[in-house]
Amino acid sequence: MKAIILSGGKGTRLRPLTYTGAKQLVPVANKPILWYGIESIVAAGITEIGIIISPETGEEVKAKTGNGERFGAKITYILQDKPAGLAHAVKVAQPFLQDSPFVMYLGDNLVQSDLGLFLEQFRAANLDALTLLCPVSNPSAFGVAKVDEQGRLLQLIEKPKNPPSNLALVGIYIFSNIIHSAIASIQPSARGELEITDAIQALIDQQKAVEARQIRGWWLDTGKKDDLLEANRVILDTCLQSEVLGEIDEKSQVIGRVQVGPGSKVINCTIRGPVTIGSNCHLENCFIGPYSSVADQVTLIDADLEHSVILQGAKVEGIHHRIVDSVIGQRAHLKEAPRRPKALRFMIGDDCQIELN
Ligand code: DAU
Repeated sequence: MKAIILSGGKGTRLRPLTYTGAKQLVPVANKPILWYGIESIVAAGITEIGIIISPETGEEVKAKTGNGERFGAKITYILQDKPAGLAHAVKVAQPFLQDSPFVMYLGDNLVQSDLGLFLEQFRAANLDALTLLCPVSNPSAFGVAKVDEQGRLLQLIEKPKNPPSNLALVGIYIFSNIIHSAIASIQPSARGELEITDAIQALIDQQKAVEARQIRGWWLDTGKKDDLLEANRVILDTCLQSEVLGEIDEKSQVIGRVQVGPGSKVINCTIRGPVTIGSNCHLENCFIGPYSSVADQVTLIDADLEHSVILQGAKVEGIHHRIVDSVIGQRAHLKEAPRRPKALRFMIGDDCQIELN
C-alpha cells in the first residue's frame, strides 16, 4: 500500500495568506496542516508517500517537509504542472503508484479518524474504492454522496446546487489500481477539471466494489479563516501537551497547557492555555488567552490576544485593544498609538503593515 497527498492546486480560498505560500503549509497549532496528513498515513503503517506539488509552491513544500525521515517515511515529490483536478493528480502520480493500491489524501484536510481502521476494511472486503463521508450543514461546498438505506453508495456529485444528502466526501480515499482505467475513461468537468468523483462514479456504474463509511470525530477543511481558527482550537484542545523549552521570567504567570519553544523569551506576561508559542519569540507585557498559536520568530510587546493565529515573523506592538478571532500573516507588523480599548477582528495577509492611530 502506498499513499499520495495532494499539495498542489491554487489555494485561492485562504487569500491573502496563500498569495505567497502553499495553503497546506499554513500552521495549525504551529504545525503545517500537511504534516498531520503525513503523520496519520505513517500511523496507519504506510511509509511510501508521494506528495503532489505545483510549480508555484512546490519548492516551499519540499524545503519545509524534507525527504520524510523525520516522519519515518520515504517521500517522493511529484510535480503536477497545472491544477487540472484531483483525478489529474492521480494520473500524474501513476508512475510512482504503479499497480499498488493506495490512499489519496487531500493535503488541506484535517481528520481525526483512525485511517488504519478504514484500511483494514478496504482490504478485508477486497474493495476497489472506499470513500469517507461526514454529515455537514453546507453540502453544496463539497462532493456529496447519495446512499441507499444500507449506506451503499449510489451516486457522487461534485458541489451540487441541490444536494441529495448532507453527506460530504471527506478528502481521504482508498483505491485499488482499477481507478487508473476509470480516470482514463472520464472527461474534464464543466469547471475544466478531471474530477475524482466522476472516476469513482464510473466505478459505481461498472458495479465495481465501491463503498463508503462515515467517519467519527472531527473533520476540518481548513480552506477559510474561520475554519482555520476552528481547526486551531480543536487541535489545541485535544492534542497540546505542556512543554516549556524557552525562558519564562518570574513576573510572568502561566496557567493551563502551554508550550514555549526553544530560544523564546516571555517577560511579564500572562499566558492562559491552551496556547502554543514557537521558537525564538519575544513576548513582553502581554496577555495571551486560550486557543492562540504563535509561530516562530514572533514579537509581541504590550499586546493582548485570544483565539488567534499569529504566523512566523509577525510583530504586534502597543495594541491596547484585545485582538480576538484573528489570523495575522507572516512578517505582518501591527503597531498602535495608545488609545480607545475595544475588540478588533483581523484577517491580515503576509507582509502587511498596519498602524491604528
Ligand atoms: O475537502 C473535501 C473536498 O475536497 C471534497 O468534498 C470534494 O469532493 C473534493 O473535490 C475536494 O474539493 P475542494 O474544492 O476542497 O478541492 P481543492 O481544489 O481545494 O483541492 C483539494 C486539495 O488538492 C488541495 O490540497 C489542493 C490539491 N490539489 C487540487 C487540485 C484541483 C492538487 O494537488 N491538484 C489539483 O489539480
